[in-house]
Amino acid sequence: MAYQPKDAFYRKAKEQGFRSRAAYKLLELDRRFRLMRPGDRVVDLGAAPGGWLQVAAGLVGREGVVVGVDLQPIGSFKARNVILLQGDITSAETEIKIRSVLGGMADCVLSDLAPRLSGIRDADVSRSLELCRSALRLACRVLKPGGHFLVKTFVGEELKGLSSELGEHFASVERSRPGATRKGSSEIYLCAKGFRAGNLPRRGVGYEDSAGQNEGQQL
Ligand SMILES: C[S@@+](CC[C@H](N)C(=O)[O-])C[C@H]1O[C@@H](n2cnc3c(N)ncnc32)[C@H](O)[C@@H]1O
Repeated sequence: MAYQPKDAFYRKAKEQGFRSRAAYKLLELDRRFRLMRPGDRVVDLGAAPGGWLQVAAGLVGREGVVVGVDLQPIGSFKARNVILLQGDITSAETEIKIRSVLGGMADCVLSDLAPRLSGIRDADVSRSLELCRSALRLACRVLKPGGHFLVKTFVGEELKGLSSELGEHFASVERSRPGATRKGSSEIYLCAKGFRAGNLPRRGVGYEDSAGQNEGQQL
């Protein structure tokens, strides 16, 4: 996607103290799909710099908890209900850390994961899909029955396939493109509600060997 100058949502985020314009996407998606409630346990995959964490922390309140995970370090939060982990969401070590800080099964898993873009569209779409599938695998391992999963993906040939994969594990799957999405972007969010525990995703029940890599670190 071509470079775009800072837009109205970027400026609004600065004014309102959000760490990213992406916060407005989650606010809109939550209004539409009612993903989070006070007291919920939420996992936010690909959480840096933390706009979604701010929104989720507000929605779950003091009784809830939000665990934010990213390859990049995330600036610290004053809020006590936000726990930050640095690590690769595709590694088993990271899942172990998420479980250990979550304090129970998750009510909701959010994924705004995005790979570092190469500019080669097909390669970028395929890396993004891999991340979506990794997020789905992780969601299926940490969600409680009836839980929700929100995942960013891109419009393309594989969208239908990914939607049906989600449909194997959730009672409903809907698509949405929030108003705060940049013009020209082909990103879209899939909201899967009503997790049906039992069958893990067909591909990649376990993790690829990552011994010695992806050393997640609690900040
Ligand atoms: C679009 S940003 C997320 C923005 C965030 N939702 C917010 O509101 O500030 C996508 C993030 O995904 C992270 N990411 C990509 N691959 C990852 C991986 N394998 N494990 C953890 N984080 C990853 C990137 O480091 C990047 O910070």
